[in-house]
Amino acid sequence: MALSDFDLVLFGGSGDLAMRKLLPAMFSRDVCGDLPPTARIVCVGRQESTQEEFINMVTSTARPHIKSAKATDDNWNRFIARITYVALDATDVATYHGLVDALRNDAGVTRVYYLATPPALFSRICDNLKDKGLATANSRVVLEKPLGRDLASAKQINKEVGKVFEEHQIYRIDHYLGKETVQNLLALRFGNILFEPLWRREWISDVQITIAEKLGVGNRIGYYDTSGALRDMLQNHLLQLLCIVAMEPPTSTSPDAVRDSKLQVLRSLKRFTPTTLAQNIVRGQYRAGHVDGKAVPSYRDEPEAPQNSRTETFVAMKAEIDTWRWAGVPFYLRTGKRMADGLAEIVVRFKQIPHSIFNQPTSSFQPNSLVIRLQPDEGLRMNLMAKTPGEGMRLKPAELELDFRETFKAPRMDAYERLLLDVLRGQLTLFMRGDELEAAWEWVEPILTNWEQDDTAPLPYASGTWGPAAASALIGRDGLQWREEALPED
Ligand code: BG6
Repeated sequence: MALSDFDLVLFGGSGDLAMRKLLPAMFSRDVCGDLPPTARIVCVGRQESTQEEFINMVTSTARPHIKSAKATDDNWNRFIARITYVALDATDVATYHGLVDALRNDAGVTRVYYLATPPALFSRICDNLKDKGLATANSRVVLEKPLGRDLASAKQINKEVGKVFEEHQIYRIDHYLGKETVQNLLALRFGNILFEPLWRREWISDVQITIAEKLGVGNRIGYYDTSGALRDMLQNHLLQLLCIVAMEPPTSTSPDAVRDSKLQVLRSLKRFTPTTLAQNIVRGQYRAGHVDGKAVPSYRDEPEAPQNSRTETFVAMKAEIDTWRWAGVPFYLRTGKRMADGLAEIVVRFKQIPHSIFNQPTSSFQPNSLVIRLQPDEGLRMNLMAKTPGEGMRLKPAELELDFRETFKAPRMDAYERLLLDVLRGQLTLFMRGDELEAAWEWVEPILTNWEQDDTAPLPYASGTWGPAAASALIGRDGLQWREEALPED
């Protein structure tokens, strides 16, 4: 489906996200021929700079992030001709005239306002757009995370943005939903008859969801130290993955059908009390160590990090969903920076066979598991038991592997490319609805409150490891192991 003409306005248009992700994503779609010839990108920033200075900055900052062979000078020059820079103070409506002038006043041209700014500015920007008559019926607004820092601030954002834009115009982005494998999980669950009958407490013993990064906090300490892993990764990315794994079959892929199913999961998550929270959540902070053989500093020694910071860079928890389908099935969630490996995966483990008919004990059977791999390579792996060749009957674990890159040779889109296209097409399915956002914060809230009142520091862990030993003990109490701990040594 061809895109209709648009003006895309990037607030935070000279910022890190615009340079690393948004402009490279738009370039990619441009060279693939997706953008209408007259579509424009208006980058908005606070800095006074001329159009030429800005374009030079985009060329030196955003272009290196484009890995495609299509990033030729010709293609690049055609792309940057779409960009206009407008300097304004987002909080001061008197400075919005440049933006008014830059936009086309044509109901046939879709307007997208992408707010890649701190959330404290969302409501002022929306008010100012309304004041200037820019929040038209053909407009959409994209809200970039962090979408608040607790339930109250998330509600406030929803309320303020909701005064200017209707819910169907609001795109709350979680870039994990733009990842190909996450959507493939929907295909796996609801495009095959095989899994759905088994996808429940009777057959599944536990689910692990891990997003591990080798990277440290980088140059984002200002944001990260006031956020931490719970707000930065768990409240959004991990919970969204959990929703896709655990939701009831939606009636279709329409936005409300999918979002209703996800909302039901969020509302069914068992609430933590101060006691269950202490037993089921581990938080950690990285210390110096080695990642890929390179020495890296402790979190507290990162440039500008507070020496006594109690911000967690690692969280592991055992969550439960109180529904008929999932009661009693633990969902182990884990995320951390400076870990031993960089990966994102979901492991669904099935129950043990009830009885062995072979001449080997049941305990020698590795329970079946399905590993859904999001990063670094995208694919599915099904672990089965199979007979070893030759005489007799000896069973050993074997794997069925589906490598998406190998199987589907089609070029892939980065998560931001996919999600930007969805916004421009008006497809809301992969974006969070307001009530979903609030339900996620509502569940996380008791943890935040408890940690604020608790003056103990997160547990230290050496960079380049899988986090504090307490995270292994957390899952070990249930007689289980994190996947990498359970893998046989090479
Ligand atoms: C972002 C977080 O939302 O996701 C970052 O703010 C994190 O801290 C990033 O590094 C991880 O995303 P990805 O796609 O690289 O796994």
